Amino acid sequence: MELNVSASENINGTLVLPLYEGSESVPESCEVGMPTSLKSQINRILSAGDFKAKKKSTMTLLGGEDGKAILVGLGKSDDCTSHDYRKAGAAVTAGIKKSHGNELTVRFDNAGVTNMGAFAEGMMLRDYSYDKYKKKDDDEDDKTEVSVRITCSEEEAKELTKLVIEYNGICKGVHLSRDLGNCPPNDMYPEVFADMARDWAKGYDNVDVTIINYDEALKAGMGGLIAVGKGSARKPCMVIFEMNKNVEGRCPLLVGKGITFDTGGISLKPGANMDEMKYDMGGSATVFGTMEALAQTGHEGKVVAITCMAENMPAANATRPGDVIKGLSGKTIEVLNTDAEGRLVLSDGLWKAGEFDPEYIIDFATLTGACVVALGHEATGLWSNDDDFRTRIHEAGNAVDELAWPMPLLPAFEKEMTNSKIADTRNLGAGRYGGANTAAAFLKQFVPNRGYEKDGEQITWAHMDIAGTYWGSKTNTMVKDGATGVHVRTIHHLITKS
Ligand code: BES
Ligand code: ZN
Ligand code: ZN
Repeated sequence: MELNVSASENINGTLVLPLYEGSESVPESCEVGMPTSLKSQINRILSAGDFKAKKKSTMTLLGGEDGKAILVGLGKSDDCTSHDYRKAGAAVTAGIKKSHGNELTVRFDNAGVTNMGAFAEGMMLRDYSYDKYKKKDDDEDDKTEVSVRITCSEEEAKELTKLVIEYNGICKGVHLSRDLGNCPPNDMYPEVFADMARDWAKGYDNVDVTIINYDEALKAGMGGLIAVGKGSARKPCMVIFEMNKNVEGRCPLLVGKGITFDTGGISLKPGANMDEMKYDMGGSATVFGTMEALAQTGHEGKVVAITCMAENMPAANATRPGDVIKGLSGKTIEVLNTDAEGRLVLSDGLWKAGEFDPEYIIDFATLTGACVVALGHEATGLWSNDDDFRTRIHEAGNAVDELAWPMPLLPAFEKEMTNSKIADTRNLGAGRYGGANTAAAFLKQFVPNRGYEKDGEQITWAHMDIAGTYWGSKTNTMVKDGATGVHVRTIHHLITKS
Protein backbone atom coordinates (compact mmCIF):
# COMPACT_ATOMS: atom_id res chain seq x y z
CA MET A 1 0.00 0.00 0.00
CA GLU A 2 1.21 3.42 -0.91
CA LEU A 3 -0.27 6.32 0.99
CA ASN A 4 -0.10 10.02 0.23
CA VAL A 5 -1.75 13.24 1.22
CA SER A 6 -3.43 15.56 -1.25
CA ALA A 7 -5.27 18.86 -0.93
CA SER A 8 -7.08 18.17 -4.21
CA GLU A 9 -10.86 17.77 -4.31
CA ASN A 10 -10.88 14.96 -6.83
CA ILE A 11 -12.09 11.54 -5.86
CA ASN A 12 -10.01 8.95 -7.66
CA GLY A 13 -11.01 5.32 -7.54
CA THR A 14 -13.02 4.11 -4.57
CA LEU A 15 -14.15 6.70 -2.05
CA VAL A 16 -13.46 5.85 1.61
CA LEU A 17 -15.85 7.70 3.88
CA PRO A 18 -15.44 7.55 7.68
CA LEU A 19 -18.74 8.36 9.40
CA TYR A 20 -20.04 8.93 12.92
CA GLU A 21 -22.94 6.97 14.31
CA GLY A 22 -26.18 8.77 13.57
CA SER A 23 -25.04 10.29 10.24
CA GLU A 24 -28.17 10.55 8.12
CA SER A 25 -26.50 11.94 5.03
CA VAL A 26 -23.09 12.61 3.53
CA PRO A 27 -21.47 15.35 5.66
CA GLU A 28 -21.49 18.64 3.77
CA SER A 29 -17.72 19.05 3.96
CA CYS A 30 -17.29 15.71 2.15
CA GLU A 31 -19.53 16.48 -0.78
CA VAL A 32 -16.99 18.27 -2.97
CA GLY A 33 -15.99 16.30 -6.00
CA MET A 34 -18.45 13.53 -5.20
CA PRO A 35 -20.54 12.26 -8.16
CA THR A 36 -24.19 13.17 -7.52
CA SER A 37 -25.40 9.63 -8.04
CA LEU A 38 -22.90 8.21 -5.55
CA LYS A 39 -23.88 10.86 -3.04
CA SER A 40 -27.57 10.05 -3.36
CA GLN A 41 -26.88 6.35 -3.07
CA ILE A 42 -24.97 6.93 0.19
CA ASN A 43 -27.68 9.30 1.43
CA ARG A 44 -30.35 6.67 0.77
CA ILE A 45 -28.41 4.08 2.77
CA LEU A 46 -27.74 6.44 5.66
CA SER A 47 -31.25 7.84 5.90
CA ALA A 48 -32.71 4.32 5.85
CA GLY A 49 -30.39 3.42 8.74
CA ASP A 50 -28.83 0.62 6.70
CA PHE A 51 -25.32 1.63 7.79
CA LYS A 52 -25.13 2.48 11.48
CA ALA A 53 -21.47 3.53 11.51
CA LYS A 54 -20.69 1.45 14.59
CA LYS A 55 -17.00 1.39 15.50
CA LYS A 56 -14.89 -0.62 13.03
CA SER A 57 -17.88 -1.55 10.83
CA THR A 58 -17.61 -1.18 7.06
CA MET A 59 -19.96 -1.30 4.09
CA THR A 60 -18.97 -1.52 0.47
CA LEU A 61 -20.95 0.10 -2.35
CA LEU A 62 -19.96 -1.10 -5.77
CA GLY A 63 -22.72 0.81 -7.63
CA GLY A 64 -21.64 0.76 -11.26
CA GLU A 65 -20.87 4.00 -13.06
CA ASP A 66 -21.56 6.07 -9.91
CA GLY A 67 -18.20 5.14 -8.56
CA LYS A 68 -17.48 2.87 -5.64
CA ALA A 69 -17.33 3.59 -1.93
CA ILE A 70 -16.36 2.05 1.40
CA LEU A 71 -18.27 3.47 4.36
CA VAL A 72 -16.50 2.99 7.67
CA GLY A 73 -17.86 3.55 11.16
CA LEU A 74 -16.24 5.70 13.86
CA GLY A 75 -18.90 5.13 16.52
CA LYS A 76 -20.50 8.01 18.42
CA SER A 77 -18.91 11.40 17.75
CA ASP A 78 -18.76 12.41 21.43
CA ASP A 79 -16.63 9.47 22.54
CA CYS A 80 -14.61 9.01 19.35
CA THR A 81 -10.84 9.22 19.90
CA SER A 82 -7.84 8.97 17.61
CA HIS A 83 -7.71 5.29 18.62
CA ASP A 84 -11.11 4.82 16.96
CA TYR A 85 -9.83 6.54 13.83
CA ARG A 86 -6.82 4.19 13.82
CA LYS A 87 -9.13 1.18 14.20
CA ALA A 88 -11.39 2.46 11.42
CA GLY A 89 -8.37 2.79 9.12
CA ALA A 90 -7.34 -0.77 9.93
CA ALA A 91 -10.91 -1.98 9.29
CA VAL A 92 -10.79 -0.44 5.81
CA THR A 93 -7.51 -2.19 4.96
CA ALA A 94 -8.91 -5.47 6.28
CA GLY A 95 -11.94 -5.05 4.01
CA ILE A 96 -10.17 -4.11 0.76
CA LYS A 97 -11.02 -6.53 -2.01
CA LYS A 98 -9.99 -6.76 -5.64
CA SER A 99 -13.34 -5.25 -6.60
CA HIS A 100 -12.37 -1.96 -4.92
CA GLY A 101 -9.66 -1.48 -7.51
CA ASN A 102 -6.23 -0.20 -6.66
CA GLU A 103 -6.98 3.44 -6.03
CA LEU A 104 -8.69 4.77 -2.92
CA THR A 105 -9.51 8.33 -1.88
CA VAL A 106 -10.23 8.99 1.80
CA ARG A 107 -12.45 11.96 2.57
CA PHE A 108 -12.86 13.13 6.20
CA ASP A 109 -15.43 15.43 7.76
CA ASN A 110 -13.30 17.97 9.64
CA ALA A 111 -11.49 15.22 11.54
CA GLY A 112 -8.34 17.19 12.34
CA VAL A 113 -4.77 16.23 11.53
CA THR A 114 -4.25 13.93 14.54
CA ASN A 115 -7.29 11.81 13.72
CA MET A 116 -6.54 11.70 10.01
CA GLY A 117 -2.98 10.64 10.81
CA ALA A 118 -4.21 7.91 13.13
CA PHE A 119 -6.56 6.63 10.41
CA ALA A 120 -3.66 6.50 7.95
CA GLU A 121 -1.54 4.72 10.55
CA GLY A 122 -4.25 2.10 11.08
CA MET A 123 -4.48 1.52 7.33
CA MET A 124 -0.72 0.97 7.10
CA LEU A 125 -0.37 -1.16 10.24
CA ARG A 126 -3.10 -3.55 9.07
CA ASP A 127 -1.53 -3.79 5.60
CA TYR A 128 0.48 -6.90 6.43
CA SER A 129 0.38 -10.60 5.74
CA TYR A 130 3.05 -13.22 6.08
CA ASP A 131 2.88 -15.23 2.88
CA LYS A 132 6.54 -15.78 2.13
CA TYR A 133 6.07 -19.53 2.27
CA LYS A 134 2.91 -19.72 0.14
CA LYS A 135 2.77 -20.58 -3.52
CA LYS A 136 2.00 -17.42 -5.52
CA ASP A 137 -1.38 -17.28 -7.26
CA ASP A 138 -1.16 -17.23 -11.05
CA ASP A 139 -2.61 -13.74 -11.25
CA GLU A 140 -0.45 -12.47 -8.41
CA ASP A 141 2.14 -10.98 -10.73
CA ASP A 142 -0.19 -8.49 -12.31
CA LYS A 143 -1.63 -7.46 -8.93
CA THR A 144 -0.66 -3.83 -8.41
CA GLU A 145 -0.21 -2.03 -5.13
CA VAL A 146 -3.17 -0.19 -3.65
CA SER A 147 -2.56 3.52 -3.70
CA VAL A 148 -4.40 5.60 -1.11
CA ARG A 149 -4.92 9.35 -1.24
CA ILE A 150 -5.94 11.13 1.95
CA THR A 151 -7.61 14.39 1.00
CA CYS A 152 -7.49 17.37 3.33
CA SER A 153 -7.38 21.15 3.25
CA GLU A 154 -4.36 23.13 1.98
CA GLU A 155 -3.59 24.21 5.55
CA GLU A 156 -3.59 20.65 6.87
CA ALA A 157 -1.59 19.07 4.05
CA LYS A 158 1.92 19.84 5.29
CA GLU A 159 1.41 18.66 8.85
CA LEU A 160 -0.50 15.57 7.76
CA THR A 161 2.17 14.64 5.22
CA LYS A 162 4.77 14.81 7.99
CA LEU A 163 2.67 12.55 10.20
CA VAL A 164 2.06 10.02 7.45
CA ILE A 165 5.80 9.82 6.68
CA GLU A 166 6.55 9.31 10.38
CA TYR A 167 3.88 6.60 10.76
CA ASN A 168 5.12 4.90 7.63
CA GLY A 169 8.61 4.67 9.19
CA ILE A 170 7.28 3.35 12.49
CA CYS A 171 5.12 0.87 10.61
CA LYS A 172 8.21 -0.54 8.91
CA GLY A 173 9.54 -1.32 12.38
CA VAL A 174 6.27 -3.01 13.40
CA HIS A 175 6.23 -5.08 10.21
CA LEU A 176 9.86 -6.08 10.68
CA SER A 177 9.05 -7.27 14.20
CA ARG A 178 6.16 -9.35 12.77
CA ASP A 179 8.34 -10.78 9.99
CA LEU A 180 10.91 -11.93 12.54
CA GLY A 181 8.26 -13.40 14.83
CA ASN A 182 6.36 -15.19 12.08
CA CYS A 183 9.43 -16.76 10.50
CA PRO A 184 9.47 -20.54 11.04
CA PRO A 185 12.08 -21.73 13.53
CA ASN A 186 14.00 -23.83 11.00
CA ASP A 187 14.79 -20.59 9.20
CA MET A 188 15.02 -18.26 12.21
CA TYR A 189 17.76 -19.23 14.62
CA PRO A 190 20.35 -17.16 16.51
CA GLU A 191 22.85 -16.90 13.68
CA VAL A 192 20.19 -15.91 11.15
CA PHE A 193 18.89 -13.17 13.47
CA ALA A 194 22.45 -11.91 13.96
CA ASP A 195 23.13 -11.92 10.21
CA MET A 196 19.90 -10.02 9.60
CA ALA A 197 20.90 -7.42 12.18
CA ARG A 198 24.34 -7.07 10.60
CA ASP A 199 22.84 -6.64 7.12
CA TRP A 200 20.26 -4.19 8.45
CA ALA A 201 23.00 -2.01 9.95
CA LYS A 202 24.64 -1.70 6.52
CA GLY A 203 21.60 0.28 5.39
CA TYR A 204 22.18 3.12 7.89
CA ASP A 205 25.30 5.08 8.63
CA ASN A 206 24.29 5.85 12.22
CA VAL A 207 23.90 2.29 13.49
CA ASP A 208 26.43 -0.37 14.46
CA VAL A 209 25.79 -4.00 15.20
CA THR A 210 28.20 -6.15 17.19
CA ILE A 211 27.74 -9.88 17.49
CA ILE A 212 29.11 -11.81 20.44
CA ASN A 213 29.30 -15.35 19.11
CA TYR A 214 29.25 -18.60 21.08
CA ASP A 215 32.99 -18.79 21.72
CA GLU A 216 33.15 -15.16 22.75
CA ALA A 217 30.12 -15.52 25.00
CA LEU A 218 31.72 -18.57 26.62
CA LYS A 219 34.95 -16.69 27.18
CA ALA A 220 33.14 -13.63 28.54
CA GLY A 221 31.33 -15.81 31.10
CA MET A 222 27.80 -15.49 29.74
CA GLY A 223 26.76 -18.61 31.61
CA GLY A 224 23.01 -17.94 31.30
CA LEU A 225 23.06 -17.63 27.53
CA ILE A 226 25.36 -20.63 27.19
CA ALA A 227 23.31 -22.81 29.56
CA VAL A 228 20.18 -22.29 27.49
CA GLY A 229 21.71 -22.52 24.03
CA LYS A 230 24.33 -25.21 24.40
CA GLY A 231 21.90 -28.10 23.81
CA SER A 232 21.14 -26.88 20.31
CA ALA A 233 23.09 -27.36 17.10
CA ARG A 234 22.24 -23.69 16.45
CA LYS A 235 24.57 -21.98 18.86
CA PRO A 236 23.53 -18.95 20.95
CA CYS A 237 24.80 -15.42 20.52
CA MET A 238 24.26 -11.90 21.77
CA VAL A 239 23.54 -9.08 19.33
CA ILE A 240 24.26 -5.48 20.30
CA PHE A 241 22.71 -2.61 18.34
CA GLU A 242 24.07 0.90 18.84
CA MET A 243 22.42 3.93 17.27
CA ASN A 244 24.16 7.33 17.20
CA LYS A 245 26.83 5.93 19.51
CA ASN A 246 28.89 9.12 19.47
CA VAL A 247 26.14 11.20 21.03
CA GLU A 248 27.17 12.16 24.58
CA GLY A 249 25.21 11.18 27.68
CA ARG A 250 23.07 8.39 29.01
CA CYS A 251 20.61 6.73 26.69
CA PRO A 252 17.72 4.25 26.65
CA LEU A 253 18.80 0.62 26.54
CA LEU A 254 16.48 -2.15 25.33
CA VAL A 255 17.04 -5.84 26.05
CA GLY A 256 15.17 -8.64 24.27
CA LYS A 257 14.56 -12.33 24.99
CA GLY A 258 15.39 -14.14 21.78
CA ILE A 259 14.57 -17.81 22.15
CA THR A 260 14.14 -18.81 18.51
CA PHE A 261 12.41 -22.00 19.66
CA ASP A 262 11.51 -23.05 23.17
CA THR A 263 10.98 -26.79 23.56
CA GLY A 264 11.42 -26.39 27.31
CA GLY A 265 14.73 -28.26 27.09
CA ILE A 266 15.07 -31.29 29.37
CA SER A 267 11.96 -29.98 31.22
CA LEU A 268 10.23 -30.67 27.91
CA LYS A 269 6.98 -28.88 27.15
CA PRO A 270 3.81 -30.83 26.31
CA GLY A 271 3.31 -31.29 22.56
CA ALA A 272 0.08 -29.34 22.10
CA ASN A 273 0.70 -25.97 20.46
CA MET A 274 4.44 -26.26 20.87
CA ASP A 275 4.79 -24.74 17.40
CA GLU A 276 3.81 -21.43 18.99
CA MET A 277 7.14 -21.37 20.75
CA LYS A 278 8.69 -19.99 17.57
CA TYR A 279 7.39 -16.65 18.90
CA ASP A 280 9.63 -16.96 21.92
CA MET A 281 12.00 -14.52 20.27
CA GLY A 282 9.24 -11.88 20.32
CA GLY A 283 11.21 -9.75 22.77
CA SER A 284 14.22 -9.54 20.49
CA ALA A 285 11.93 -8.92 17.51
CA THR A 286 10.37 -6.01 19.42
CA VAL A 287 13.81 -4.58 20.09
CA PHE A 288 14.98 -4.98 16.48
CA GLY A 289 11.71 -3.54 15.15
CA THR A 290 11.99 -0.55 17.50
CA MET A 291 15.52 0.15 16.27
CA GLU A 292 14.22 0.04 12.70
CA ALA A 293 11.36 2.43 13.56
CA LEU A 294 13.83 4.83 15.20
CA ALA A 295 16.24 4.61 12.26
CA GLN A 296 13.44 5.10 9.72
CA THR A 297 12.18 8.20 11.49
CA GLY A 298 15.64 9.74 11.72
CA HIS A 299 16.03 9.58 15.49
CA GLU A 300 19.10 11.55 16.47
CA GLY A 301 19.55 10.42 20.05
CA LYS A 302 21.68 7.54 21.24
CA VAL A 303 19.93 4.20 21.79
CA VAL A 304 21.46 0.80 22.57
CA ALA A 305 19.76 -2.59 22.28
CA ILE A 306 20.88 -6.05 23.31
CA THR A 307 19.21 -9.24 22.14
CA CYS A 308 19.95 -12.59 23.78
CA MET A 309 19.56 -15.27 21.13
CA ALA A 310 19.38 -19.01 21.83
CA GLU A 311 17.41 -22.12 20.92
CA ASN A 312 16.22 -24.15 23.92
CA MET A 313 16.55 -27.84 22.99
CA PRO A 314 16.83 -31.11 24.91
CA ALA A 315 20.09 -32.89 24.10
CA ALA A 316 22.82 -35.01 25.62
CA ASN A 317 24.75 -31.85 26.39
CA ALA A 318 21.75 -29.74 27.43
CA THR A 319 21.47 -28.12 30.83
CA ARG A 320 19.74 -30.35 33.40
CA PRO A 321 17.26 -29.40 36.13
CA GLY A 322 19.48 -29.28 39.19
CA ASP A 323 22.50 -27.76 37.45
CA VAL A 324 24.00 -24.68 39.03
CA ILE A 325 25.34 -22.11 36.61
CA LYS A 326 27.16 -18.81 36.94
CA GLY A 327 26.53 -15.94 34.51
CA LEU A 328 28.12 -12.57 33.77
CA SER A 329 26.99 -11.08 37.08
CA GLY A 330 28.99 -13.67 39.02
CA LYS A 331 25.83 -14.73 40.88
CA THR A 332 25.03 -18.43 40.77
CA ILE A 333 21.67 -19.76 39.62
CA GLU A 334 20.14 -23.11 40.49
CA VAL A 335 18.33 -24.23 37.36
CA LEU A 336 15.30 -26.03 38.70
CA ASN A 337 13.40 -26.04 35.44
CA THR A 338 15.04 -25.70 32.04
CA ASP A 339 11.79 -24.32 30.63
CA ALA A 340 12.33 -21.14 32.67
CA GLU A 341 15.10 -20.26 30.22
CA GLY A 342 14.17 -16.72 29.20
CA ARG A 343 15.23 -15.35 32.57
CA LEU A 344 18.59 -17.10 32.22
CA VAL A 345 19.51 -15.47 28.91
CA LEU A 346 18.13 -12.14 30.12
CA SER A 347 20.26 -12.27 33.27
CA ASP A 348 23.33 -11.89 31.05
CA GLY A 349 21.72 -9.28 28.78
CA LEU A 350 20.66 -7.13 31.73
CA TRP A 351 24.06 -7.37 33.38
CA LYS A 352 25.79 -6.52 30.10
CA ALA A 353 23.54 -3.44 29.78
CA GLY A 354 25.34 -1.87 32.75
CA GLU A 355 28.47 -1.46 30.61
CA PHE A 356 26.69 1.23 28.61
CA ASP A 357 25.76 3.25 31.71
CA PRO A 358 22.23 3.72 30.31
CA GLU A 359 19.62 6.19 31.47
CA TYR A 360 17.27 3.23 31.83
CA ILE A 361 16.88 -0.39 30.79
CA ILE A 362 13.67 -1.97 29.48
CA ASP A 363 13.52 -5.67 28.75
CA PHE A 364 10.93 -7.36 26.54
CA ALA A 365 10.19 -11.04 26.85
CA THR A 366 7.59 -13.67 26.12
CA LEU A 367 8.55 -14.75 29.60
CA THR A 368 5.74 -16.59 31.33
CA GLY A 369 2.53 -18.49 30.70
CA ALA A 370 1.50 -17.08 34.09
CA CYS A 371 1.37 -13.60 32.58
CA VAL A 372 -1.08 -14.86 29.97
CA VAL A 373 -3.15 -16.38 32.78
CA ALA A 374 -3.14 -13.02 34.62
CA LEU A 375 -3.79 -10.59 31.78
CA GLY A 376 -4.92 -12.71 28.84
CA HIS A 377 -4.01 -11.34 25.45
CA GLU A 378 -5.24 -7.88 26.41
CA ALA A 379 -2.29 -6.30 28.18
CA THR A 380 1.42 -6.69 28.59
CA GLY A 381 2.65 -7.17 32.18
CA LEU A 382 4.76 -4.21 33.29
CA TRP A 383 7.13 -4.22 36.27
CA SER A 384 9.67 -1.61 37.30
CA ASN A 385 12.00 -0.69 40.12
CA ASP A 386 10.85 2.93 39.69
CA ASP A 387 7.15 3.84 40.03
CA ASP A 388 7.41 7.02 37.97
CA PHE A 389 9.18 5.22 35.16
CA ARG A 390 6.55 2.49 35.18
CA THR A 391 3.86 5.15 34.88
CA ARG A 392 5.72 6.78 31.98
CA ILE A 393 5.76 3.50 30.05
CA HIS A 394 2.12 2.80 30.91
CA GLU A 395 1.23 6.25 29.56
CA ALA A 396 3.31 5.82 26.41
CA GLY A 397 1.38 2.58 25.82
CA ASN A 398 -1.94 4.36 26.36
CA ALA A 399 -0.93 7.09 23.92
CA VAL A 400 -0.58 4.57 21.09
CA ASP A 401 -3.28 2.15 22.31
CA GLU A 402 -0.95 -0.64 23.37
CA LEU A 403 -1.86 -1.58 26.92
CA ALA A 404 0.92 -2.29 29.43
CA TRP A 405 -0.50 -3.06 32.84
CA PRO A 406 1.35 -2.29 36.12
CA MET A 407 2.31 -5.42 38.07
CA PRO A 408 3.94 -5.69 41.52
CA LEU A 409 7.62 -6.16 42.19
CA LEU A 410 7.28 -7.30 45.79
CA PRO A 411 10.13 -8.10 48.21
CA ALA A 412 8.41 -11.42 49.00
CA PHE A 413 8.85 -12.52 45.39
CA GLU A 414 12.52 -11.54 45.45
CA LYS A 415 12.96 -13.55 48.63
CA GLU A 416 11.33 -16.54 46.97
CA MET A 417 13.79 -16.41 44.08
CA THR A 418 16.89 -15.99 46.25
CA ASN A 419 16.34 -18.72 48.78
CA SER A 420 17.99 -21.59 46.92
CA LYS A 421 19.66 -23.99 49.32
CA ILE A 422 22.83 -24.20 47.27
CA ALA A 423 23.03 -21.12 45.01
CA ASP A 424 22.53 -17.34 45.09
CA THR A 425 19.30 -17.53 43.11
CA ARG A 426 16.89 -20.10 41.69
CA ASN A 427 15.12 -19.90 38.35
CA LEU A 428 11.83 -21.29 39.64
CA GLY A 429 9.43 -20.01 42.29
CA ALA A 430 8.52 -22.15 45.30
CA GLY A 431 5.06 -22.87 43.93
CA ARG A 432 3.22 -22.07 40.75
CA TYR A 433 1.35 -19.03 42.06
CA GLY A 434 2.39 -15.55 40.97
CA GLY A 435 4.69 -16.99 38.31
CA ALA A 436 4.90 -13.79 36.28
CA ASN A 437 5.86 -11.84 39.42
CA THR A 438 8.51 -14.29 40.58
CA ALA A 439 10.03 -14.18 37.08
CA ALA A 440 10.21 -10.38 37.26
CA ALA A 441 11.70 -10.58 40.77
CA PHE A 442 14.34 -12.97 39.45
CA LEU A 443 15.30 -10.55 36.66
CA LYS A 444 15.69 -7.73 39.16
CA GLN A 445 18.59 -9.64 40.74
CA PHE A 446 20.54 -9.08 37.53
CA VAL A 447 19.90 -5.38 36.97
CA PRO A 448 23.24 -3.80 37.81
CA ASN A 449 23.84 -0.85 40.05
CA ARG A 450 25.26 2.23 38.35
CA GLY A 451 28.92 1.67 37.59
CA TYR A 452 28.49 -1.86 39.01
CA GLU A 453 29.15 -0.29 42.45
CA LYS A 454 28.39 -2.71 45.25
CA ASP A 455 26.28 -0.32 47.28
CA GLY A 456 25.33 1.98 44.41
CA GLU A 457 21.88 2.77 43.11
CA GLN A 458 20.26 0.24 40.83
CA ILE A 459 19.79 1.45 37.25
CA THR A 460 16.19 2.39 36.43
CA TRP A 461 14.67 -0.69 34.87
CA ALA A 462 11.37 -2.01 33.58
CA HIS A 463 10.34 -5.48 32.47
CA MET A 464 7.59 -6.09 29.93
CA ASP A 465 6.16 -9.61 29.69
CA ILE A 466 4.66 -9.83 26.21
CA ALA A 467 3.82 -13.56 26.32
CA GLY A 468 0.12 -12.79 25.80
CA THR A 469 0.34 -9.73 23.58
CA TYR A 470 3.05 -10.63 21.09
CA TRP A 471 0.70 -13.07 19.39
CA GLY A 472 -2.72 -14.66 19.66
CA SER A 473 -4.57 -11.42 20.33
CA LYS A 474 -8.02 -11.49 18.74
CA THR A 475 -8.84 -7.98 19.90
CA ASN A 476 -5.76 -6.37 18.36
CA THR A 477 -7.33 -5.22 15.12
CA MET A 478 -4.07 -3.81 13.79
CA VAL A 479 -3.10 -7.31 12.70
CA LYS A 480 -4.89 -10.26 11.12
CA ASP A 481 -3.06 -13.05 12.92
CA GLY A 482 0.39 -14.24 13.96
CA ALA A 483 2.96 -11.91 15.48
CA THR A 484 1.50 -8.55 16.48
CA GLY A 485 4.67 -6.45 16.57
CA VAL A 486 3.34 -4.89 19.78
CA HIS A 487 5.29 -2.15 21.63
CA VAL A 488 7.47 -0.98 18.77
CA ARG A 489 5.08 1.97 18.71
CA THR A 490 4.99 2.30 22.52
CA ILE A 491 8.75 2.49 22.81
CA HIS A 492 9.15 4.73 19.78
CA HIS A 493 6.69 7.07 21.49
CA LEU A 494 8.46 6.76 24.85
CA ILE A 495 11.88 7.53 23.38
CA THR A 496 10.90 10.28 20.96
CA LYS A 497 7.92 11.97 22.60
CA SER A 498 7.85 11.50 26.37
N1 BES B 1 8.33 -19.17 26.60
C1 BES B 1 7.72 -19.59 27.79
C2 BES B 1 6.60 -18.68 28.24
C3 BES B 1 5.37 -18.66 27.39
C4 BES B 1 4.33 -19.53 27.64
C5 BES B 1 5.25 -17.72 26.42
C6 BES B 1 3.19 -19.47 26.88
C7 BES B 1 4.11 -17.68 25.65
C8 BES B 1 3.07 -18.54 25.89
C9 BES B 1 8.72 -19.64 28.94
O1 BES B 1 10.03 -19.90 28.61
C10 BES B 1 8.28 -20.71 29.85
O2 BES B 1 8.22 -21.82 29.43
N2 BES B 1 7.94 -20.36 31.07
C11 BES B 1 7.48 -21.28 32.03
C12 BES B 1 8.08 -20.91 33.35
C13 BES B 1 7.91 -21.94 34.41
C14 BES B 1 8.68 -23.19 34.08
C15 BES B 1 8.39 -21.34 35.70
C16 BES B 1 5.96 -21.18 32.08
O3 BES B 1 5.43 -20.10 31.91
O4 BES B 1 5.31 -22.20 32.26
ZN1 ZN C 1 10.49 -21.96 28.48
ZN1 ZN D 1 10.58 -19.29 26.69
